[in-house]
Amino acid sequence: MSDETPFDVAEADRLLMTTRAVRKRLDFERDVSDQVIFDCIDAAEQAPSGGNDASRRWIVVRDQDTKNKLGEIYRESGQFMNRVAERLDGTGHDKEQVFSSSAYLVENFAKAPVLVIAAIWGLHDNSGRPGLFDSVVPSAWSFNLALRARGLGSAYTTMLNANVDQLAEILGIPDGVTTVVTFPVAYTKGTDFKAVARQPAADITYFDQWGFRRQRASADGSTRVADGQGVVVEIDVDTRPRDVWPLVADINLPAEFSSEFMGAEWQGDPGHGSTFVGKNKLGDREWEVECHVTDYEEGKTFEWSTTDPAEPGAVWRFDIGEIGVKTRLRFSMLIGQTNNGTVTRALADGADEESVLNGRRQMLKDNMQATVEGIKAKAEAD
Ligand SMILES: Cc1cc2nc3c(=O)[nH]c(=O)nc-3n(C[C@H](O)[C@H](O)[C@H](O)COP(=O)(O)O)c2cc1C
Repeated sequence: MSDETPFDVAEADRLLMTTRAVRKRLDFERDVSDQVIFDCIDAAEQAPSGGNDASRRWIVVRDQDTKNKLGEIYRESGQFMNRVAERLDGTGHDKEQVFSSSAYLVENFAKAPVLVIAAIWGLHDNSGRPGLFDSVVPSAWSFNLALRARGLGSAYTTMLNANVDQLAEILGIPDGVTTVVTFPVAYTKGTDFKAVARQPAADITYFDQWGFRRQRASADGSTRVADGQGVVVEIDVDTRPRDVWPLVADINLPAEFSSEFMGAEWQGDPGHGSTFVGKNKLGDREWEVECHVTDYEEGKTFEWSTTDPAEPGAVWRFDIGEIGVKTRLRFSMLIGQTNNGTVTRALADGADEESVLNGRRQMLKDNMQATVEGIKAKAEAD
C-alpha cells in the first residue's frame, strides 16, 4: 500500500472484478447466519440515496414455506430461461453458459438458505427524475460485494418483480413500497471466481462529445493525434443480425447515404486479407484509397484499414451485436497516425491540433450516422 492510495488497489479491484452472478456454485447445504447478513446490509447501507432519505428496507426470508412460494413465482416467470437454455445447449453460443446457469437457478431458487430482498418506501411516478431504482441499486450491489468479501455469493435477480402483487401478499408488504431486487444468498462452493471479458473502457468511453473516443489515455487530458482519436456511432435495428450483415458487407451501400464516400470496388473476393479501392470526395477534392480488410467475420465484424495496414491512414469497422432478437450496429473509425489529411493539418505549424481533430470528427460522425440510419431503414424495410 503506498501513501497515496488509501487501499490496496489490487485487492479492491479483485473484489470489484471477480464478483460474479453465482448460481450453480451456491452451497445450499451450509447455513448463513443472521449476523453475516446484518454485516453485509450495514456495509450496503453506506451507499448513497437521493436526498439521503434512508428509505431502503431489507427483507430476509428464511422460512422454507415462504421460500417455496417465492420459488414458485420465480419458476413461473423464468420458464423462458429454461426454453432458451435448452435451445442453446451444446451450441457454443455466447449466451449458452448464462442461460444454463440462469435455468439452474429457476429450478433451485427456494433452496438458497436465505433470500434477501431490497425494497424502498415509494412508488415509481414515471417522472424521469432520479427515482427509486437509483436509490436501491448502488446499495444492492454493495450488498453483493460485501457477500463476496465474506465467502458468500448471489445473483442479482429481478424476476420476482414480474408478480409484485403476489410478492406483496406473501410477504405482507404494504402499499407504497417497491421491491427492486432479490438475492438468493449462500456460501459459494470455492471462492476462485474470475474477471471476465467485458468491453474495454477505450471502446465505450467518449470524451466531451458522444461518440468521440480515444484509443489510449491522454497523458494530460488533451486531444492529440498520438493517442489515437476516433468516432463511434451506434444504432439499434429492429431485425435479426443475419438480416443486417448483407447490408454491412456491401461496400457500396454507404455511398447512398454519405456526402464524401462515393463507392468502392473489390480487388478480389470479399473476406479477410482482401483489398478494395474506395472513391472519396471532400469539397472539390476527389481521391481513391486502397483499403485492406484487416478483420472479417461473416455476420459479425467487417474492418478495413486505408492505405498501408502497417501504418493505416484510418481504420474503419462495423460490428454487429445481438441484443435479444434485435441488432445493435456499431460503426467506428480511428484516425491513423499518418497517411491522412487530417493528421497533416492537425500537426502543421501553428495548427490547433484539438480543433482540427474535433472538426473532422464531427463531419465523420454526421456521415457515419447517416450511414447507420440508412442501413437501419433498409434492413427494417426489407
Ligand atoms: C438488472 C439485472 C437483473 C438481473 N436479473 C436476473 C434474474 O432475474 N435472474 C438471474 O439469474 N440473473 C439476473 N441477473 C444477473 C445477470 O444475468 C448477470 O449479471 C450477467 O449474466 C453477467 O454475469 P456476471 O455478473 O457473472 O458477470 C440480473 C442482473 C441485473 C444487473
